[in-house]
Amino acid sequence: MKIVQLKQKQLSQIEDLEMELWRFESRFNKNFKVNKNSGRHLIKWLKNITKHSKWVCFVAKDNRQIVGFVTGWIYKKQRTLYKHWKVGYGCDLYVRPAFRGKGLGRHLMKKMINWFGQQGARYVEIDIYQKNKKSFTLNHSLGFKDHATRLVLRLK
Ligand SMILES: CC(C)(COP(=O)(O)OP(=O)(O)OC[C@H]1O[C@@H](n2cnc3c(N)ncnc32)[C@H](O)[C@@H]1OP(=O)(O)O)[C@@H](O)C(=O)NCCC(=O)NCCS
Repeated sequence: MKIVQLKQKQLSQIEDLEMELWRFESRFNKNFKVNKNSGRHLIKWLKNITKHSKWVCFVAKDNRQIVGFVTGWIYKKQRTLYKHWKVGYGCDLYVRPAFRGKGLGRHLMKKMINWFGQQGARYVEIDIYQKNKKSFTLNHSLGFKDHATRLVLRLK
């Protein structure tokens, strides 16, 4: 198994995995629209983000097949308000079911965290759905602390 950094022009290589992650997370977020085009729309959205930010994506490869990925970017908080204004944001992490439990998720996260550090970030932020216990266990074990909770109110 190899972990390699994906280039912006190779983004469509993770379309199927993005789609699988989107489908997986739709069990936690009922507002997600899931259809056959979701993967394509996600890549389009990511391509747009990569134009404006320092973006990174690492993929796990089993021979030539991509079986997992992590992606995120650096964003800047208002310098006058924050002591440390360069922040890494971890957006997506996914490992195909058949390849889970072998340390790949941890390896991918560590690669991205190291990359953020090399780019000068002093913090890394991630969002996790409250019910995604596995992801909490993984990220707590990497040193992440619970920091804020987003509350959602459904209207009508
Ligand atoms: C979360 C996910 C990326 C973990 O990938 P993975 O390759 O299986 O993870 P690893 O093998 O590196 O395990 C890392 C840690 O995760 C936790 N973990 C993994 N499988 C677990 C399970 N079945 N139950 C509870 N914790 C588990 C453990 O803390 C584990 O560390 P340990 O092996 O030292 O105990 C993978 O399950 C996945 O893609 N899930 C669906 C998408 C998702 O939830 N993404 C995260 C969005 S924030």
